[in-house]
Amino acid sequence: MLEIEKLNYAYPDGHQAIRDINLKIEEGESIALVGANGAGKSSLFKLIIGISEIKEGSIKVEELSVGKKTLKDIRRKVGMVFQNPDDQLFMTKVYDDIAFGPRNELLTEEEVETRVVNALEQLGITHLRDRMPHRLSGGEKRVIAIASVLAMNPRVILFDEPTSFLDPQARRNVINTLDSLKMTKIIATHDLDMALDICDRVIILHHGSVFADGTVKDILLDENLLSQCHLELPLCMQKPRVR
Ligand SMILES: Nc1ncnc2c1ncn2[C@@H]1O[C@H](COP(=O)(O)OP(=O)(O)OP(=O)(O)O)[C@@H](O)[C@H]1O
Ligand SMILES: [Mg+2]
Repeated sequence: MLEIEKLNYAYPDGHQAIRDINLKIEEGESIALVGANGAGKSSLFKLIIGISEIKEGSIKVEELSVGKKTLKDIRRKVGMVFQNPDDQLFMTKVYDDIAFGPRNELLTEEEVETRVVNALEQLGITHLRDRMPHRLSGGEKRVIAIASVLAMNPRVILFDEPTSFLDPQARRNVINTLDSLKMTKIIATHDLDMALDICDRVIILHHGSVFADGTVKDILLDENLLSQCHLELPLCMQKPRVR
């Protein structure tokens, strides 16, 4: 459902962030995209949803090539939950933030309401419907940002660091939320325990290239492989250090 071929990308200042990436992702896969700071995870996401312009190589979502002309249709198929919910939420009411995308699609107000109500119900957050997004906790904002993407009924969702800056309970809540979503998911994360929990496949990016691609067990339990990319075993697999 997503096919990336010979993708290279350099930022306008000349910094090469993506190097010769080739990937095929099937419908319904739950993929962890991991790698050290600066490995290229967010850069790859920006190319997939067309924030950065592809100059070399191609990305296809269900046979539709990502490019300027297809951007509107690509954004219907691909949703992205940003690392910082404040980049995604800007209305004064949760309802209006979730309704923003569907309203942009010129749906009737009745259809918009159905989309919003469904997203709120699916994530179990109907009680937040009339709250002000900027007054919510970090964990609540994160789930509202997910709802605003869900309301667009995307075929694939890209999550950029969905568990960063959350306390353990909010993190668990977000993990359970992600696990309950059955569409294709690509999750850029440093949280390898979450990856072990809810992903089937792991792709390691290293200096902008795919360094390893395989099942969760093959990749995340291979300490040697992980250390080559400045990563460590998931915490639950590490020996406790007692002083
Ligand atoms: N706007 C930009 N202009 C120039 N270089 C950039 C820009 N944004 C990112 N980069 C560079 O591209 C490389 C990849 O960055 P990217 O943000 O994709 O990494 P990441 O894997 O998401 O890292 P993190 O885990 O820290 O979020 C880095 O070397 C970074 O410095
Ligand atoms: Mg990033």
